[in-house]
Amino acid sequence: MTTKVALEQHVAAGSPELREVFGGVAAAAREIAKQIRLAGLSDALGAYGAVNVQGEQQQKLDVFANDVMIKWLGQAASVAACVSEEDEAPVVFANAGAKYIVIFDPLDGSSNIDVNVNVGTIFSVQELQGGDLDASILQQGTKQVAAGYVVYGPSTVMVMTTGTGVAAFTLDDNGEFIRSNDAMQMPEQGPYYSTNEANAASWPEAYREYLAMLLRGDLNGKTYSSRYIGSLVADFHRTLLKGGVFLYPPTDKAPKGKLRLLYEANPLAMLAEQANGAAVNGPERIMELQPEQIHQRTALIVGSKREVEALQKAVLEAR
Ligand code: AHG
Ligand code: MN
Ligand code: MN
Ligand code: MN
Repeated sequence: MTTKVALEQHVAAGSPELREVFGGVAAAAREIAKQIRLAGLSDALGAYGAVNVQGEQQQKLDVFANDVMIKWLGQAASVAACVSEEDEAPVVFANAGAKYIVIFDPLDGSSNIDVNVNVGTIFSVQELQGGDLDASILQQGTKQVAAGYVVYGPSTVMVMTTGTGVAAFTLDDNGEFIRSNDAMQMPEQGPYYSTNEANAASWPEAYREYLAMLLRGDLNGKTYSSRYIGSLVADFHRTLLKGGVFLYPPTDKAPKGKLRLLYEANPLAMLAEQANGAAVNGPERIMELQPEQIHQRTALIVGSKREVEALQKAVLEAR
């Protein structure tokens, strides 16, 4: 009989000062999970009727998740401020002496909400440096003190790291996140590639050649299957557990990439590297990119080391 380890216990054992941060995220995730589970019975689905700073039609659940994350994190004495996909500027709290900044995508996969497909919450934690909030928000991904996501699916699972490995916690019937996986490691290679192939014609040529190379079985003889859910957090979760590579290359529509560096690419890159995987924007390691503004976008190729390193080599050689 394995002993039950709750999320807050796990965090307190390694990084006690982060306990409140994870407690806040867990409280928010419980509320978001419930709202999603019962969304069909309330008016929680559909468009909110506003456009966010990304230029996207906000869904009601985007706004709900955002409000709930800010509510709970604002009550965590150690959280100084939040940065959200849904808010143009940071939300600053009056928590005296607080030193953490939580940067998050409150609801990832909004296009899948109304069709009952997995969605998630992604978060990154940076530390306030020298009282300079803007500079602290724009630190490189290598400076993250913690990162994680919650995937709302058949079960609600939080996957997280505080820099000493990746653990997963499943939400139980008592509303507790109980450890269900520890010291998670991404398989070395395959069996899946995950990308929106509708964009392939507008990728840089090197990405089309890379995909053709994978499909020929030219990467260590491995053959591949395609899986694309369209919720980054779900596509990443499968890649973490089963292996392979997720790619969102530059496209004509999004020449700098579609995904956001601070609250999608960086936290997933930290998790990937902690699980012996890798994450690049093509030529460069995601976590070494120097952010210039909080909503900046990036290309993202993340997953098993073999595939990601092969892509990075292909893109560098194509220069
Ligand atoms: P969000 O719902 O937080 O705006 O993110 C949506 C993202 C990500 O979840 C997913 O990988 C990507 O959009 C899918 O984009 P395409 O529909 O262009 O493939
Ligand atoms: Mn969005
Ligand atoms: Mn997202
Ligand atoms: Mn989102």
